[in-house]
Amino acid sequence: MFKIIVCENYEEMSKKAFSVIRDIVVENPKAVLGLATGSSPVGLYQLMIEDHQKNGTSYKDVTTFNLDEYLGIAKDHPQSYYTFMHENLFKGLDIKEENIHIPSGSGDVDQQAANYESLLADNMIDVQVLGIGRNGHIGFNEPGTPFDALTHIVKLKENTRKDNARFFDSLDEVPTQAITMGSGTIMQRAKKVLMIASGEAKQDAIYNMIKGPITTDLPASILQKHDDVVVILDKAAAARL
Ligand code: F6R
Repeated sequence: MFKIIVCENYEEMSKKAFSVIRDIVVENPKAVLGLATGSSPVGLYQLMIEDHQKNGTSYKDVTTFNLDEYLGIAKDHPQSYYTFMHENLFKGLDIKEENIHIPSGSGDVDQQAANYESLLADNMIDVQVLGIGRNGHIGFNEPGTPFDALTHIVKLKENTRKDNARFFDSLDEVPTQAITMGSGTIMQRAKKVLMIASGEAKQDAIYNMIKGPITTDLPASILQKHDDVVVILDKAAAARL
């Protein structure tokens, strides 16, 4: 079930998303957070850091699970999701390194996927932050991925690589594969989903997620079957609703 909140702009969207996360962490200092990378949650992460530093909201007993990681670049590469999360969030909080979980994109990656899934099998995620791709992907579950997919290795679609090329020096440098929690993992493990999306480029994906058929052509449409999805949008992303 979707609860849809439409905001004036990215800043207001980030504030609303932050209040959802803060309430969960204040109520349960041992909360398990599912986190995403990309541009959508950066404002939310800044507010979490600001709140921790000004108001002392503590993350020392919080556990996190990230959705995904690239394959083929080192963990300490400037564009790895490991680096992204440390730069944009973790280094500003008091979270313990051992409580941070990000799938590993190196070594025997099929084994890494199985290990990540079994770690998740022992945990429920209190709230899973999600962005959405223009093609409707969640995590890196690209169109066509079965809805029951667990953590797995994925070949990135060309449009996803192009969308993410803004973070790299050139398109050639964008990895072609990633490890991601599956749509099935997200549906099974997340008690609550917090989807954030802004900008005109997301309006078709958002419309189809909410109003379209449930189809693997639009991976986010599976969220229609989830009990508790809060969708926080700016006006542009909500324009077709
Ligand atoms: C990131 C992730 C992706 C992004 C999506 C939107 O961990 O799993 O699904 O959430 O590609 O990216 P942005 O927010 O950069 O538009």
